[in-house]
Amino acid sequence: MAEELNIINTTDKREKYASLIPQIESLIADEEDRIANLANIAAALKYGMNFFWVGFYMVKDTQLVLAPFQGPIACTRINKGKGVCGQSWATGKTLIVPDVDQFPGHIACSSDSKSEIVVPVIKDGVVIGVLDVDSDSLGAFDEVDQEYLERLVSKL
Ligand code: SME
Repeated sequence: MAEELNIINTTDKREKYASLIPQIESLIADEEDRIANLANIAAALKYGMNFFWVGFYMVKDTQLVLAPFQGPIACTRINKGKGVCGQSWATGKTLIVPDVDQFPGHIACSSDSKSEIVVPVIKDGVVIGVLDVDSDSLGAFDEVDQEYLERLVSKL
């Protein structure tokens, strides 16, 4: 396993993902422990893409429960259908929120978070958790983030 990520110096987001995602995939390929892989994915995305907050919430009974993350402390439990994460869980769809203040029911864990993307982690057709990525800039996420983050969580 590589001990360091090779983080390329570019402002082109697609180029950054194209370099980083295969490195993360090989980082998790030989490890079967899901928590270990979630932890490394969170760290690699946070430092590789310079996001404000990156983390997972995993389904436990009737709630999403905070799982490995990187960034400021966050809310620990989210009900189905609540907030961006709970809606992604309920619909099984990726949600891109350009301005969190305009999203009805958004759960603010940090007032510094301005935009957000939430990608469901789907296993055998069932949502088992979500990947939540927050930015401290408005409108930080688009279909490029969706494409690469969906590809990444499909490997879990
Ligand atoms: N904003 C999320 C809650 C999680 S934090 O952003 C880390 C939401 O509305 O579901």
